[in-house]
Amino acid sequence: MENKQPSSEFGDSGFPAELEYQSGFGNHFSSEAIPGALPQGQNSPLMCPYGLYAEQISGTSFTSPRKVNQRSWLYRIKPSVTHEPFKPRIPSHKKLVSEFNQSNSSANPTQLRWKPTEVADSPIDFIDGLYTVCGAGSSFLRHGYAIHMYTANKSMDNCALCNADGDLLIVPQKGRLWIATECGRLQISPGEIIVIPQGFRFAVNLPDGPSRGYVAEVFGAHFQLPDLGPIGANGLAAPRDFLAPTAWFEQKFCPGYTIVQKFGGELFTAIQDFSPFNVVAWHGNYVPYKYDLSKFCPFNTVLIDHGDPSINTVLTVPSDKPGVALLDFVIFPPRWLVAEHTFRPPYYHRNCMSEFMGLIYGGYEAKADGFLPGGASLHCCMTPHGPDTKTFEATVARGNDAGPFRIANTMAFMFESCLIPRVCPWALESPHIDREYYQCWIGLKSHFSHEEGDYKDKQVQNGKDTN
Ligand SMILES: [Fe+2]
Repeated sequence: MENKQPSSEFGDSGFPAELEYQSGFGNHFSSEAIPGALPQGQNSPLMCPYGLYAEQISGTSFTSPRKVNQRSWLYRIKPSVTHEPFKPRIPSHKKLVSEFNQSNSSANPTQLRWKPTEVADSPIDFIDGLYTVCGAGSSFLRHGYAIHMYTANKSMDNCALCNADGDLLIVPQKGRLWIATECGRLQISPGEIIVIPQGFRFAVNLPDGPSRGYVAEVFGAHFQLPDLGPIGANGLAAPRDFLAPTAWFEQKFCPGYTIVQKFGGELFTAIQDFSPFNVVAWHGNYVPYKYDLSKFCPFNTVLIDHGDPSINTVLTVPSDKPGVALLDFVIFPPRWLVAEHTFRPPYYHRNCMSEFMGLIYGGYEAKADGFLPGGASLHCCMTPHGPDTKTFEATVARGNDAGPFRIANTMAFMFESCLIPRVCPWALESPHIDREYYQCWIGLKSHFSHEEGDYKDKQVQNGKDTN
C-alpha cells in the first residue's frame, strides 16, 4: 500500500494539528515524504534515489519464520551509525531495571496498591520521568518484561531515546504525547496507546506539560493480536484500527544532538550533529503504531456469570507455551452488564498469572474507592484479590432484579504475565503506596448460614431449583 504525505518543511519539528496515518495491524507498509524516494524493485540499490542511504532495522532474527518475521527498510539522509562512541550517561538513571534479581528488586506476595503520583514542578522529561515498578526475567536473555510508570512535564530536547531492550507499550493517563519516530510522527491522547518496537529512535514531546502514564516493556518478543477462537473473524481490537505513521523527516544541523540508548536497563549516550528523524522514505512491517481504546469491540456474558478478563485482550505477547502469555494487555472499557442472578463485578480470584492494573479515567467496577486514575495495583501469582467490601455489599443489595446496567466513563487496564514480577525498592518505599489497601477486604463479613432448608430457599430465590 502506497501512502504519500505532503512534503515536509525542512527543519520543522512542530506537529501539525492532524497527522496522516496508515491503517492495519502487521501490514507491510510503504511511505515516502518525497515522491520517488523509495527504491523500486530492490531494497539496497548502489545509489538510492536522492542520494539517500539504505538501512535495515530487524525486529526478528533474519531466519524467523515468515509469519512472525519483522523488518523495515529506512532510506535516510545519513545512516544511524554516524555518531560518536557510546558512553555511560552522566548522571546515570537510577530507577530503570531490565534484569530482575535479588540485588535490585524483591518478591512480595502482598496485595499492593499505589495512589497516583503528582507530576513534579521541576523540569523533567520522559526519559528521566520513567521509572520501573516491577518486572521479571532479563533483557539480556531476551525473556521477560518490565512495568514502568512515568511522570514528566517537559519535552525531550535535542535528544532521542532508543530502547535496545524491548518493545514499549505506552499508556498515557494524563497529557498527550507527540512522538517523533524514524518512521514518522504520532499523536497519542489519554485513551490511546502506542507501541514503539525495540530499537526505534524516538523523541517524546509533551504539548500539555504535566503528563503521567504507564509503560509495559517486553523482552525478546513482540505484541500481536490475540486469536479470536469461537468469537469468529471479528471483534475485540480490529486490525484496521491500528495506525502507523507516514514518512516524515527533518534535515537540520543539531550540534550536540544526543542519542540515549537504553541497553540492559542502563543509559548510554552518543553525540551526533543531525536529527535522527532523517528518514525520507521507508517500507516494511516493523513500525511504531497506535490504537484508540474506544474502538475496542468488547464481548461479554449475556446470561450468567462474569467472563474471564482474557475476553478483553487488546494485544498479547505469547510465551512458548500455547495459551500462556508473556504479557497480555487487557482493558475494561465501558460496556453493558446484563447477567441474570449473577454477581456481576469481577469474582474473587487467585491466579497463577500475575496482574498489574492501572486506571486511565473513571472508576473500576471492583473497587468503590481507593483505586484512582493514575494509580496502580499489583496482585502477584496466587495472591488473592477481588471486589472490596463496599462493592460486594452494594452488589448484593441490588438483588436479583438489577436490570441491564451500563458501565460508563471508565477505562481500566491490566498487564498480565505468566512470569512473577519482583518489585523495585522505590516502588515499595514510595510515599504513594497505599498501606491500608488490605483494609478494603477486612470488612467482608460472613453471610454463611446453614439452617435447615436455607440453602434450598436461596437457590429458589436465585431462579434455580436444586431438585
Ligand atoms: Fe484477577
